[in-house]
Amino acid sequence: MATVGELLSSGTARLRAAGSESARLDAELLLGWAIGAERTGLIAHPEGPVGTDAAAAYDGAVVRREAGEPVAYIRGLKEFYGLALAVDSRALIPRPETELLVAEAEREIAWRLTSAPRPAGTPKLRVVDVGTGSGAIAIALATLLRRRRMLPEVSILAVDCSAEALVLARENAAGHSVADAVAFDTADLLPAAEQPFDLILANLPYIPSAEVDRLPVAASFEPRTALDGGPDGLAVIRRLLAALPSALAPEGTALLEIGFDQGSAVERAVAGLPGGWSCRNQPDLSGRPRLAHVERAANPERTTGAR
Ligand SMILES: C[S@@+](CC[C@H](N)C(=O)[O-])C[C@H]1O[C@@H](n2cnc3c(N)ncnc32)[C@H](O)[C@@H]1O
Repeated sequence: MATVGELLSSGTARLRAAGSESARLDAELLLGWAIGAERTGLIAHPEGPVGTDAAAAYDGAVVRREAGEPVAYIRGLKEFYGLALAVDSRALIPRPETELLVAEAEREIAWRLTSAPRPAGTPKLRVVDVGTGSGAIAIALATLLRRRRMLPEVSILAVDCSAEALVLARENAAGHSVADAVAFDTADLLPAAEQPFDLILANLPYIPSAEVDRLPVAASFEPRTALDGGPDGLAVIRRLLAALPSALAPEGTALLEIGFDQGSAVERAVAGLPGGWSCRNQPDLSGRPRLAHVERAANPERTTGAR
């Protein structure tokens, strides 16, 4: 019977030869998945024997990874904001950088709920996650708000143009006990009947079409509609920006994830909206623009310092 250490070594070597830049980590994650154990346990006990069924499952997983399939699709899950989300080829694998959008959305909501009295009968804050994919943003946000006991004052709608992705998102919402707190809808961007929203959250596709073809092979397993943002990457985001004057409540904010090199282009697009709008690009942990905060410029309360 092979040991953990032997299988990790052979798997790492195979994945390195196949071109994986994270071969050892991939092997640990895949062996942990095949055995049903945490990575830390594998690392601590390389001498542990691996049964034949688990070894065969691991071998099959390594074959899939050698062909370029992302580890998250092979394991069927991805950690996002501390949640284990089910993922498969119906939706984009949630990326760590998108956690910034969730954190800012939580901050915005907390500020809105606590900065002024909310007499009985005040309508709920209306939040929409546009292009929800696996449901990552909406579900992580609902989980955070439930923990802070703010969920009763917020309604969350999650929208995607992909009906398949929405099936997965609903499964994830049920798996994290927020199916009662998030409504799902199929729409091209925003469903007209639900507008306006106080908070519009969106991680829409923003990669230029030509670059999508040059992405690592793992990305070819993800839906192209989740990645391809048209000739300059901003085709879908521009359409959402154009919808803001009617879709965003007067005091509302849109938080849009963007590519690190798209800050100026998004600022220009916002400047062209009718009625006067502001755009502030927030950097991610690597210091590069990642999140556009878009609001009407005319509101004197709408300064970041106030929050
Ligand atoms: C980059 S993925 C983001 C998925 C998820 N929000 C996340 O952060 O992991 C973009 C998502 O937007 C959806 N999408 C693309 N164009 C859309 C449109 N016009 N209307 C609604 N959803 C759209 C795609 O189907 C995909 O699920």
